Amino acid sequence: MSSTSGRDSLVVGRLEEATDAFVLDFTSSVRFDQRMYRQDIRGSIAHARMLASIGVLSADEADRIVAGLDSIHKEIEAGRFQWSVTLEDVHMNIESRLIELIGDTGKKLHTARSRNDQVATDIRLYLRDAIDDIDQAMTALLAGLIELASRNTDTIMPGFTHLQAAQPITFGHHLMAWFEMLLRDRDRLRDCRRRLNRLPLGAAALAGSTFPLDREFVARELGFDDVCENSLDAVSDRDFAIEFTAVASVTMAHFSRWCEELVLWSSQQFSFVSLPDRFCTGSSIMPQKKNPDVPELIRGKTGRVYGHLTALLTLMKSQPLAYNKDNQEDKEPLFDCVDTLRNCLTALNGLIPNIEANVANMAAAAVEGYTTATDLADYLVKRGTPFRDAHHIVGRVVARAVREKRHLHEFSLADLQAEAGGSNLVGEDVFAVLIPLGSASARAHIGGTAPATVRAAIERARQRVASG
Ligand code: ARG
Repeated sequence: MSSTSGRDSLVVGRLEEATDAFVLDFTSSVRFDQRMYRQDIRGSIAHARMLASIGVLSADEADRIVAGLDSIHKEIEAGRFQWSVTLEDVHMNIESRLIELIGDTGKKLHTARSRNDQVATDIRLYLRDAIDDIDQAMTALLAGLIELASRNTDTIMPGFTHLQAAQPITFGHHLMAWFEMLLRDRDRLRDCRRRLNRLPLGAAALAGSTFPLDREFVARELGFDDVCENSLDAVSDRDFAIEFTAVASVTMAHFSRWCEELVLWSSQQFSFVSLPDRFCTGSSIMPQKKNPDVPELIRGKTGRVYGHLTALLTLMKSQPLAYNKDNQEDKEPLFDCVDTLRNCLTALNGLIPNIEANVANMAAAAVEGYTTATDLADYLVKRGTPFRDAHHIVGRVVARAVREKRHLHEFSLADLQAEAGGSNLVGEDVFAVLIPLGSASARAHIGGTAPATVRAAIERARQRVASG
């Protein structure tokens, strides 16, 4: 053993004084990067096996290293591992313990490797694992949306523009709009995974190694599709983390929109849906309260995810090649982004399938606001009135309905004929399009809100979820 200890025994090199105590603490990352221990150990095992395969280590040395790493893995899982801030990061904590456990052979593990390519590999492995989890949770949520939508293909509600009642739609159709958003998010996530799934290891500090490394071997061992082509790029860029955070930001933007709607819909004023009690909270002073805390909180958490995207973009900005210590700052935003997105998905997976539609309230609201006015205009057009004239006529009818405080379907046939300018222009069949279900059912082309159309969309959606 050399005379130095702790971090110094691994990195002292040319330095003549011991690192300042504050600097040790300030520059260390082990408090937050220890969560990558599994990936770090997996990467080291693959590296050791590769070094043996090219004859840099003997088979026996590689076996001892792997056994040592396995027992460190167990120590960490059992909570028996002593993490030390003095050892800076997860990489040096584990390497130093390996040397403690197996002696000089442990000192050979870091041959042809730098923490620069090691950490780049660990983060990619970590994020890939996280993406696979998140993908599963998204897939479950897509299925939950399909379930809820299929129970509500015939549930009529008002559709809104400008948050003003606009036209009748089906609740199933509304939910399938959420489905489309999330299916694109999952697609973006998969795209991000595909681009990140390349191996940095072998880049060493920045320029590659003098040893005849078999990088493809390591890539295969670790499940990477390929190796990073350029060593400088491999150790320095964190664009995959930015990309993931951008995907998370778009996803959270979508969640914030859904959650805003849930907050509105569960209010007394709307009363469109009931949320399960176990996803709501009471008030410490007002005994009658049932607050939609979960959707509110998801809406609020969107902000921190956007913040992480900005943090990572700014972290990367203007960095000269190759590795800079700035990059150590990539982890906290990235990890928090992973945690936040995962937690929001868990919450939504519990919440969404258990939403109850208040069918009667939704239907009653769909009648308010003259939501079938466009249908009346379309009806007149089908009977030969030019659209602009029809628009004008219906505007007059609506103004009269407002004055007389009645719904459009409450006019008599004679009234409607008089307004339209002739008894031949409006028939008894007009009343079918003036009620919300008739209005919605008439929108029966692909992408429309008709119950039958939504049922067909749901069938396709099941296929699309399964086929990726
Ligand atoms: N803890 C460092 C990080 O997270 C590991 C790489 C440090 N490399 C170095 N040469 N200082 O980025």
